[in-house]
Amino acid sequence: MSNEKPQSFLEVIDFKKSFGEKQVHDGVSFYVRKGECLGLIGGSGTGKSVLLRSLVGLEKPDSGKIIIDGEDIVPKNERELIEVRKKVAYAFQGGALFDSMTVYENLAYPLREHFHFTEKEIAEQIRAQLEEFGLDPSSEKLYPGSLSGGMQKRVGLARSMMMHPQVVLYDEPTAGLDPYNTKKIQESILKMKAKGVTSILVTHDMPTVYAVCDKVALLLNGRIGEQYTIDKLKTEPSGAMTEFINGESA
Ligand SMILES: Nc1ncnc2c1ncn2[C@@H]1O[C@H](COP(=O)(O)OP(=O)(O)O)[C@@H](O)[C@H]1O
Ligand SMILES: [Mg+2]
Repeated sequence: MSNEKPQSFLEVIDFKKSFGEKQVHDGVSFYVRKGECLGLIGGSGTGKSVLLRSLVGLEKPDSGKIIIDGEDIVPKNERELIEVRKKVAYAFQGGALFDSMTVYENLAYPLREHFHFTEKEIAEQIRAQLEEFGLDPSSEKLYPGSLSGGMQKRVGLARSMMMHPQVVLYDEPTAGLDPYNTKKIQESILKMKAKGVTSILVTHDMPTVYAVCDKVALLLNGRIGEQYTIDKLKTEPSGAMTEFINGESA
């Protein structure tokens, strides 16, 4: 398998998961090469978030493999998954900042959890990160509650990146954002890509898919029905993917 796709950095093989009677994933398979961004689209409730959460071990499939950097993470225990989560960041729906902590403390949190940096080193990394994400240095003193929704998302994204992950999973990062904040998020994703970060972008925001992704896959009826490179999607659209994008199917 790995001989056929020598550059695949992340590969999901025959992923199956059900909740009770409901089979959500019925053999999902796809791969992403190092530095690529895969857009993952599909109707609400098709299992996109469950799939992303499984890629950091927050959920386990009933069967199937998740190969990241040559290792199947499915059999790993909680302690081993800590190492996986240093490599793979899940930028979740909503941002999920700690409301009782300032922006500074939110960004410092992953560093304090995983490393033994001095306060000066932490402060330097936070300054650099705020700049990288187009956030004003003075925002470090603010609490999430006083930030706009768009700013909260950008701080959440900045926090996911504090560990310099090799893979980033974006779960609807632009949902509900105005064009300015959407553009800022697109720029951050492109910056991460330029550093060689491999990513999956779950979204309903097709302009963002066109702006940042290399290829796009449609999750339909528990499987990846169709997959296109962005170039192909622009020139040879057909089938279920086009119907989905054009709003002709759910
Ligand atoms: N912990 C859970 N218990 C029961 N059902 C769940 C659980 N998590 C997700 N589901 C179900 O799995 C399906 C896929 O959910 P999700 O991955 O959140 O969809 P999406 O992100 O594509 O909108 C939904 O029908 C949801 O109700
Ligand atoms: Mg979701």
